[in-house]
Amino acid sequence: MTKKIMVLNGPNLNMLGTRQPEIYGSDTLADIERRLAKIAESKDLELDFRQSNHEGEMVTWIQEARTTCAGIIINPGAYTHTSVAIRDALAACDDVAIIEVHLSNIHRRESFRHHSHVSPVATGVMLGFGAHGYELAFQAISKLVEG
Ligand code: DQA
Repeated sequence: MTKKIMVLNGPNLNMLGTRQPEIYGSDTLADIERRLAKIAESKDLELDFRQSNHEGEMVTWIQEARTTCAGIIINPGAYTHTSVAIRDALAACDDVAIIEVHLSNIHRRESFRHHSHVSPVATGVMLGFGAHGYELAFQAISKLVEG
């Protein structure tokens, strides 16, 4: 059976491409989704790519992924630094590989971005590689869910 990978994007990432391009680059979320879809096809994985500006909706989607997905790639945006609810939902995903992604290197930025509630419950973290980081994360998660 084809395994499913859910890619979740948090608040303001719908503006990718025009939002602070000096920090986040000029690729849009649609560009990223297109590239991941190609990789998914080549690896016989199903891609479920989503974005929400709402914390509760993200929690509901993580709960859905808990029983339907082999892996979650998540860029929680600003919720990275604030959301215990998203962390708790991810922590409940026992048999799911989880990769946290950030376009920017959050450790080189303002101190309020240095702490992530998500990292301690993630399998791995990919940050600072811009949009390409999603592709790297997808390659990595395809290995994690193999077999
Ligand atoms: C981000 C980093 C966060 O601090 C910020 O709030 C974002 C994007 C990143 O991808 O670099 O919205 O998650």
